[in-house]
Amino acid sequence: MPYARIAGTGGYLPTHVVTNDELAADLATRGVETSDAWITERTGIRQRHIADPGTKTSTLATAAAQAALENAGLRAEDIDLIIVATSTPDFIFPSTACVVQANLGVGGAAAFDIQAVCSGFVYAMATADAMIRAGRARHALVIGAEVFSGILDWSDRRTCVLFGDGAGAMVLSASDQPGILAAQLNADGRQQHILCAAGNVSGGQITGDPFLRMDGQAVFKLAVNSLTRSARQVCEEAGVQLSELDWMVPHQANIRILNFIGRKLDLPEEKLIVTLDRHANTSAASVPLAFDVAWRDGRMQAGQLVLLQGVGGGFTWGSVLVKL
Ligand code: UT7
Repeated sequence: MPYARIAGTGGYLPTHVVTNDELAADLATRGVETSDAWITERTGIRQRHIADPGTKTSTLATAAAQAALENAGLRAEDIDLIIVATSTPDFIFPSTACVVQANLGVGGAAAFDIQAVCSGFVYAMATADAMIRAGRARHALVIGAEVFSGILDWSDRRTCVLFGDGAGAMVLSASDQPGILAAQLNADGRQQHILCAAGNVSGGQITGDPFLRMDGQAVFKLAVNSLTRSARQVCEEAGVQLSELDWMVPHQANIRILNFIGRKLDLPEEKLIVTLDRHANTSAASVPLAFDVAWRDGRMQAGQLVLLQGVGGGFTWGSVLVKL
């Protein structure tokens, strides 16, 4: 059975950067009080990229996909599976993956979306891995893309300062060499209320609450515990010691969460890939965007072991262990 190997990666961020100071000044005009000091100290976030109003997730996803294809030295025609992880799809349907496929000017390959919020990319990667290993795909385009700015309540300072927009993509190709060594996905739907955007469209009306809501402290605790456990389990499954990991690419939500996990797993800080200071939390895009930065700046080298981890609404979490 072939392995799925990372053949290339790509990322795309909207050009409009909003610093904490700029955001605080803008929120102040709406009567919402926050500060660079609070955001930096409590989260590690210093700025975020925000898409222009009306920007579609597929536009960001397509740009990231094109960069990943170029990096892999492949053409869109070579791709036989497209998976987009997103919680901010263009439409109810068709899927954002189908829109990306059309944007790339191709047709025929399987294309679908995965909804696992901030764990979405890890879910999508594990799904593509399973399809490649089963011989159902040779070159998969796996994308995490979000325009989260569209579902934020800009009067809720507990959430609106945390998120940004962006897209990250990866090409996974079948290979005799490993590849993805192990993957582990989990969910606990009983915790859905701690992080949700519980609205829908019915009869031409929005029903429920269309904005993201979060019990930050509950999410914080679950994130630390579930990711620590998941890291241990996925490494055990692959017969890899945690100390052998070269890099960890966790979901970029809060520097304090990353540091807690690093300490619990005894991973030196230098092994954590951190982009949340520049990107903020881009939900399903955060892991592939962070991975792309470290892949392109030369930190990641062939043969190294990398642990990718997602966690978020659902409640969902998961890990993918990769040999580069
Ligand atoms: O992507 C999905 C995964 N998401 C996460 O992993 C997020 C996990 N949670 C967190 O990162 C943190 O819980 C937050 C960053 C969301 C909040 O940090 P915290 O240290 O848990 O703060 P808190 O919610 O306990 O709030 C502390 C204080 C409160 O004021 P009082 O009640 O003590 O007077 C808040 O009202 O900070 C206040 N506060 C703010 N102040 C200024 C909350 N948000 C802000 C803000 N600016 N933006």
